[in-house]
Amino acid sequence: MRMYDLIMKKKNGGRLSREEIEYMIAEYTAGRIPDYQMSAMMMAVYFRGMDAQETAALTTAMADSGGRMDLSGIAGIKVDKHSTGGVGDKTSIALAPMAAACGAKIAKMSGRGLGHTGGTIDKLESFKGFTTGISAQHFIKQVNDIGISIMGQTADIAPADKKLYALRDVTATVDNMSLIASSIMSKKLASGADAIVLDVKTGSGAFMKEEPDAFALAREMTTLGNLAGKKTIAVVSDMDQPLGYAVGNALEVKEAIAALRGEGPEDFRQLCMTLGTCMLIAGGAAADEKEGRDKLAQVIENGKALDKLAEFVRAQGGDPQDVYDTSRLPEADMAEEIPSPQSGYIGKIDCDEVGVCSLILGGGRETKESAIDLSVGLVLHKKTGDPVSAGEPLATIYANDREKLSAAKERFLKAYHISEEQPPKRELIRGVIK
Ligand code: URA
Repeated sequence: MRMYDLIMKKKNGGRLSREEIEYMIAEYTAGRIPDYQMSAMMMAVYFRGMDAQETAALTTAMADSGGRMDLSGIAGIKVDKHSTGGVGDKTSIALAPMAAACGAKIAKMSGRGLGHTGGTIDKLESFKGFTTGISAQHFIKQVNDIGISIMGQTADIAPADKKLYALRDVTATVDNMSLIASSIMSKKLASGADAIVLDVKTGSGAFMKEEPDAFALAREMTTLGNLAGKKTIAVVSDMDQPLGYAVGNALEVKEAIAALRGEGPEDFRQLCMTLGTCMLIAGGAAADEKEGRDKLAQVIENGKALDKLAEFVRAQGGDPQDVYDTSRLPEADMAEEIPSPQSGYIGKIDCDEVGVCSLILGGGRETKESAIDLSVGLVLHKKTGDPVSAGEPLATIYANDREKLSAAKERFLKAYHISEEQPPKRELIRGVIK
């Protein structure tokens, strides 16, 4: 078999067989197919697409490019949750302890942020000493002991995807449905959980800007998961504006903790309840939606979800006191409000641009090697549809560098569009695919 022939076949709109896909992935992982040939293939796939069989073959080939985690040492149904990525998406930090406090077994693998989207691992490192670099044995024991652990993706989990994702990132081939579906699901299949709940984002801050594309991606991923014998549920949710009000690592952790206290923004609470219910049902901890919602509301009310977060932080090297006293989390030196230049309604927010503001402040990575500042970011005061008067603050920026603050402020003002008329309300939850 020759990679040249496979590129030619896909370029001409042909269908790659399972053997051809397995050959391509195995040889690329081993370094025997160069990046320039794989880049050409990715671009051919981008324009010609892949059908369901090709996507399934690509997913399993990537899942099998390294080891698969064996979680059979954990009693019960292990549940993982994954978001396709967004701005202000601190969901896992509140949701995982909520579901664990209800009796689900949360065995989750997470990644770091790249580009305008944040990552759960970076956010969790706002707890001093906290680490996700734990061994498989630690992970398994912790889920058995306290019902929850989050570990970083090990080098052995789907290494083909790691290489391919980095290549797609620099060749403008990320936003293709088959490539995103196989990338996410290869990691999820290799990470060993029995049930997977996916949060598929749609809108200006998401990879899938258009809702029909997000639904197609959700269907593709649930099919891949269920075919592989994992109970997979997808929720399609809005990412046309940041989730909640906080954007930036420690700021988001504070907002997640507020939600565990029964405070916090309504959209965030609603998403946690919807995803949490799916997790409890998939994990066998609730029989139906009503029971799931009741249980989740109860663990917020009685403080068990907050205590579960503290227990989880302690088990992975952090100080549980940080959960009860959030003034101990990283704080920026400067805080500056951004006043609205005019009166009207918030008509539209370029959500990815708000993520870029946090990146400019130092809260995200420009490259995989960049160090990040956990304390910086933004807290929004106005969201889409809110009325605003000239001079009223749209957001507060938290920064440690005056120049970065000015650059972020300038960018932020371009991301907020003020209109004379109130825009129609966008629903947060667009649908659930079971
Ligand atoms: N997240 C992933 O893991 N892969 C993609 O291709 C897109 C988002």
